Amino acid sequence: MITANTIAEVRSQVLAWRKEGYSIGLVPTMGYLHEGHASLVDEAVKQCDKVVASVFVNPTQFGPGEDLETYPRDFEHDCRLLEEHGCSMVFHPEVAEMYFEDAATYVEIQSDMPKQLCGKTRPIHFRGVCTVVSKLFNIVCPDKAFFGQKDAQQLAIIRKMVRDLSYGIEIVGCPIIREEDGLAKSSRNTYLSPEERKAALILSKSIFLGQKMAQEGEKDAGRIVEAMIRNIETEPLARIDYVSAVDGITMMPVSSMEGTVLFAMAVYIGKTRLIDNFDYNVNTHLP
Ligand code: PAJ
Repeated sequence: MITANTIAEVRSQVLAWRKEGYSIGLVPTMGYLHEGHASLVDEAVKQCDKVVASVFVNPTQFGPGEDLETYPRDFEHDCRLLEEHGCSMVFHPEVAEMYFEDAATYVEIQSDMPKQLCGKTRPIHFRGVCTVVSKLFNIVCPDKAFFGQKDAQQLAIIRKMVRDLSYGIEIVGCPIIREEDGLAKSSRNTYLSPEERKAALILSKSIFLGQKMAQEGEKDAGRIVEAMIRNIETEPLARIDYVSAVDGITMMPVSSMEGTVLFAMAVYIGKTRLIDNFDYNVNTHLP
């Protein structure tokens, strides 16, 4: 596997691959990789000749007081995992390589979509995500890019950005990978103490509860949300940021189970903010 630290190295390698006629897949990450990330690489390897993964803790998507400085990092481990899964190149730039000191251009969706769910408490988050993902798209020029359904709002926003800006890149959404006991895999799980790790199970338990209600035909999305909230409130270490039912494409609140519905939550376990979701009858592909 090639390790590239500069944009120029990525560009020249991609150009060489293009001359050979290879298709290229991109898997953007912030590192501290686990099986969730690995599943995206696996899918990319299946669908593309060459796979580029980026490992970059992107400062523009962290707000003041968030965990930018403490975000876990282990680049050697990341390289081993990526190589084992057949990744061809890892792009691992310094912040100064990605952002000029006077950088002032952002990509931002000017609708209510990024203000819903995580956007309520993280107002600049999706602007940072769209900006860095745009830059990665411009640097790598992939045929396809792979994102996890774990970050459902991010996936929906990237799909919208790609469509609005005519990127011509196919966005592939991949299912949530969970620990054996149900907890969605996340780099942030490492923040949890053993007691908090047990308490964190309340997220997936309430996801499964909501899923069961939806599958059993509950037509009132609000009732499902209420049941999930009541369930989470039984865990003393949990503090709800939000539990919401939204349209799976627009991310706007819905009350009935028509069309595409995403049930999404962010819950603090101690100081750690965790997210989880499930979708019901959702066709995430925009027309
Ligand atoms: P990060 O949190 O590292 O996640 C990278 C990708 O892995 C995202 O597409 C995310 O949805 C996916 N992922 C994480 N946990 C997963 C799980 N348990 N199952 C399936 N997929 C999972 O998301 C980001 O980084 C950043 O915002 C980024 C897009 C890289 C922009 O900086």
